[in-house]
Amino acid sequence: MNITNEMINEIRNKNDIVDVISKYIPLTQRGKNYFGVCPFHDDHSPSMSVSREKQIFTCFSCGATGNVFTFVANYEHIGFYDAVRLLGSRVGYDLGSAKITKNKNAKYYEIYDLVTKLYQNSLSTAQGKNALEYLDDRQIDKKTIKKFKIGLSSSKISITDYLVEKGYDLKTLIDLGITNDNGSDVFVNRIMFPLYDLEGNVVAFSGRIYNTKDPSKYVNTKETAIFKKGTILYNYHNAKELLKKNESVIVMEGFMDVIRADSVGITNCIATMGTALTKQNANLLKKMANNIILCFDGDKAGLEATIKAIEIFKELDVSPKIVRLPEDLDPDEYILKYGKEKFKYEIDNPESSIEFLMDLHKQNKNLSDIGDISKYINESLVDLLIVEDEVLVNLTLRKMSDEYKVDYDVLKKKYEDLKNKNKKEVTVTNSSEKKKLSQIDIASKELLAYMLNDENVLQDVEESVTFFPNDTIRLLANEMIYYYHKYGNLNVADFISYIASNEDELNLLNELMTMKVNNENKEEAVNDYIKVINSYPIKRKMNEINKEIMNETDPIKQANILKESMALRGVNNDRRD
Ligand code: UTP
Ligand code: MN
Repeated sequence: MNITNEMINEIRNKNDIVDVISKYIPLTQRGKNYFGVCPFHDDHSPSMSVSREKQIFTCFSCGATGNVFTFVANYEHIGFYDAVRLLGSRVGYDLGSAKITKNKNAKYYEIYDLVTKLYQNSLSTAQGKNALEYLDDRQIDKKTIKKFKIGLSSSKISITDYLVEKGYDLKTLIDLGITNDNGSDVFVNRIMFPLYDLEGNVVAFSGRIYNTKDPSKYVNTKETAIFKKGTILYNYHNAKELLKKNESVIVMEGFMDVIRADSVGITNCIATMGTALTKQNANLLKKMANNIILCFDGDKAGLEATIKAIEIFKELDVSPKIVRLPEDLDPDEYILKYGKEKFKYEIDNPESSIEFLMDLHKQNKNLSDIGDISKYINESLVDLLIVEDEVLVNLTLRKMSDEYKVDYDVLKKKYEDLKNKNKKEVTVTNSSEKKKLSQIDIASKELLAYMLNDENVLQDVEESVTFFPNDTIRLLANEMIYYYHKYGNLNVADFISYIASNEDELNLLNELMTMKVNNENKEEAVNDYIKVINSYPIKRKMNEINKEIMNETDPIKQANILKESMALRGVNNDRRD
């Protein structure tokens, strides 16, 4: 069943936020609003306010905010659409167990769902005998096959023909990476592992060879409208509920590793699937779990991936724990060879990033050689800069001092010097360009906060702002304007539902909702913000042009550049008045 935005809004209208939240936490009325102890942080006084008029809640202390669905989703540790389903069922809507999605991609999810079932079917027919034997050889049991919806792409029947006969559009199948440009199936005679998006929709496949010789072990679906490689993490949708309960998350390379771990009851694992961990992945994991453990393959590639991932996490001020497996084994092979208990022991006793990096620096060095010792100590001191825990820093320095007979005070001073130098470098890179950008981001956010509260500002922005430099801000502003035109208003409680599946935009919206907008001098403030934002791309472009003119010797070309510059200036003047 497809759930439209209109239905979501209907369900929201029938679930008054004050009534719903007061079922979870006691609320007391004060003036227009209701107040309660915030369940989303360690609150001791009633910091959460609930507005019947606006149908939103806001915690003044931790900044949690949203509509009735996001409250229930966060409180019950369920997804947004599950909250819609839950609240829908309380007011007489039976939304079934089918995935509820935004109409935009619903059709695509439906196709992937159907294809997944067809592949699952093929595995249980006579044709699937060899494939099942392969899985059995690898000790992947029936329960696991079912849980991860493992299937088989047939070598006899064309899934494309079947789908087209059922009325599905061939071009859509090609766009979705199910069918090749020439009309043949992308996957033939492979064991099919569905890949899921963060909400648990099947959005792609990875197909493994099992009884043929083929240079590519796995074939993956190409990037499509619903499958963006850098954003997904295998098994995230299953693991996220556990992660919210503050378990640690174990990051692996291959989905087979995750499946193996799951089959022996270790369910808090996710996989990057052979590609380097992206900053977006890292951000997601940072939000979900306090404790991140990297357990990549034991080989050299796994070592390099570990070092890279530590770098990525470092940018987010996160220091993951590390497990290195012996004998080039991957987690799947390790568990099969040494058993679950031994693997659990490894996971329960990981190294800190700093221990791991220091061990790494020791390699290929002769630690009875003074030059090498000095090199080792200097490299380690640089790594030590990421450690926030002062006690750990001190203990490490003491240990180094004892081990290599270097005066503790010397090490301490060197460490402090590096730390100061590091600070300076950070401020130097925060040069005018960066400051300018953050200024524009601040102005943009202020402006969006006004847009949320005042439709006139929304129209002003639509007319006058050319370009928000920040991607998320720009996309959210576009969504707000689009929504406003589509529904004739910008009801925040409904708008939250509208963008709920886009985490970045939702986070930004939450931030905007907790910003205090000043209604005095509003017009002036809005105009100033618009000016600041519009100055960005144009000024930068003008700088580029000025440089070009200086370097250009051909007078005709010079004149052309000048013309371009004047046109830009014109735009700039127009916007100023
Ligand atoms: P691995 O080669 O480590 O796979 O690649 P694995 O997990 O050990 O798989 P098995 O045990 O041989 O079946 C790790 C990940 O890299 C991607 C896959 O997503 C895999 O999970 N990969 C690997 C590919 O995309 N294509 C390949 O040919 C190989
Ligand atoms: Mn493997």
